[in-house]
Amino acid sequence: MSELVAVILAAGMGTRMKSKLPKVLHKVGGKAMLQRVLDAATGAGAAKKVVITGHCAELVNELIGSQAVSVYQKEQLGTGHAVMQAENELKDLNGTVMVLCGDTPLLDAGELRKFYEEHVQSGAAATVLTAMMPNPYGYGRIIRNSEGNVAGIVEEKDATPEQKAITEINTGIFCFEAPLLFEVLHTLTNDNAQGEYYLTDVLSKLNGMGKKVGAAVTADNAMVMGVNSRRQLAEAEAELRERVLGRLMDSGVTIMDPASTFVGEDVKVGNDTVIYPYTWLEGATEIGSDCVIGPSVRLTNVKVGDEVEMQFTYGHDCVVKNKVVMGPYVHLRPDTVLEEKVKIGNFIEVKNSHVGYGTKLPHLSYIGDSDIGSGVNIGCGCIMVNYDGKKKHRTTIGNDAFIGCNSNLVAPVTIGEGAYVGAGSTITKEVPADALGIARAKQKNIEGWAAKQRED
Ligand code: UD1
Ligand code: MG
Repeated sequence: MSELVAVILAAGMGTRMKSKLPKVLHKVGGKAMLQRVLDAATGAGAAKKVVITGHCAELVNELIGSQAVSVYQKEQLGTGHAVMQAENELKDLNGTVMVLCGDTPLLDAGELRKFYEEHVQSGAAATVLTAMMPNPYGYGRIIRNSEGNVAGIVEEKDATPEQKAITEINTGIFCFEAPLLFEVLHTLTNDNAQGEYYLTDVLSKLNGMGKKVGAAVTADNAMVMGVNSRRQLAEAEAELRERVLGRLMDSGVTIMDPASTFVGEDVKVGNDTVIYPYTWLEGATEIGSDCVIGPSVRLTNVKVGDEVEMQFTYGHDCVVKNKVVMGPYVHLRPDTVLEEKVKIGNFIEVKNSHVGYGTKLPHLSYIGDSDIGSGVNIGCGCIMVNYDGKKKHRTTIGNDAFIGCNSNLVAPVTIGEGAYVGAGSTITKEVPADALGIARAKQKNIEGWAAKQRED
């Protein structure tokens, strides 16, 4: 295969977005649209990527970083003028230039690769990716000659009424052979309704030179959808969500209400897991099989085992092993590991802690910077007092220990294996294995005190 280079057009402001942010930095599925296009180009096999920047170039360059070469287009004089800016970068190229736009977030790398391979095999000087649109308004229309070959593209504003009736449109995605592309770009004029140098005019020029111009029709109109407004941004978001949820359902996951379930495309969910409404699964989250997740669970970068049940939970950057049950109202903070069969009840926060096999945290506790063994019972309202105002300290609790209700464990502190802590204790010293640690004021009863109060 010849060398493939992608040129991504991203110089426009996207006025219709009515935003301080350039259009290509708006996100779909949590990722900037331009990032999605860069990923698709990489996935399609582009050895080099050139992004044409203009409006808010500094911001756009921050995203590009070292992923691609950025070329600045000072004035936006049209799509043909935009591609011409890449000439210097591609002057030694003897291969294919794939032109993409930065505002088409749903591109599929595999489809682009197929398009490129068809182009190379056909031996065409240029191939345009087209789509059949029932409502083609606003797009360039594909003009085919009597043999069915592409003769050229006419923009909406330049089209005759007959041409406007054509429903095959230009998606804005092309493959061109270089260096011929740049030769022809130099001959473009801006003699049209918009006074712009149209990239689309390259096709009719190639035709006039007797070169072969091809077209491939995509069956996936959503893949080539361009985003120009916030409404279309929401449409792209909905389309992406539908695709991801569809894939999960096809693989054996039950999603009770797709309309209120949001799953990132990199998230993995095992078979026979059921997802209840109002659930967000994001980032590198992975969930095993036979789990019940939700309602109202948000997990970001959380690894969840099999047969886990959780409801009304927010977890981020942590690990939950098999058969854990939790919720409602749980906050799992980073660097937490819950071993198998841990039970977490309501109003519990766990941070940077390791909780051992079968341990129970049933109600109203804060577990921070702790190492808790297996089979431990943490009573209602226990607090790991981990912060002295300057530093965080750790609490260690041995296997099978029992921490009575409403206890404070002032770290650094250790509770030995099988030890008990009396309810209401504030523990500041080690409790040895199998001992009872009790640290609270002794109870004193004053006989008749209440009755006397009532008489006064
Ligand atoms: C373009 C095509 C049209 C096609 C449509 C698909 C042309 C002349 N028309 O029209 O046939 O159906 O896309 O969406 O090519 N850009 C620059 N620099 C410029 C001008 C544009 O970088 O000087 C960028 C824009 O930021 C955008 C892309 O090129 O990402 C397309 O430009 P736009 O003005 O939106 O073209 P359309 O009118 O949509
Ligand atoms: Mg456009």
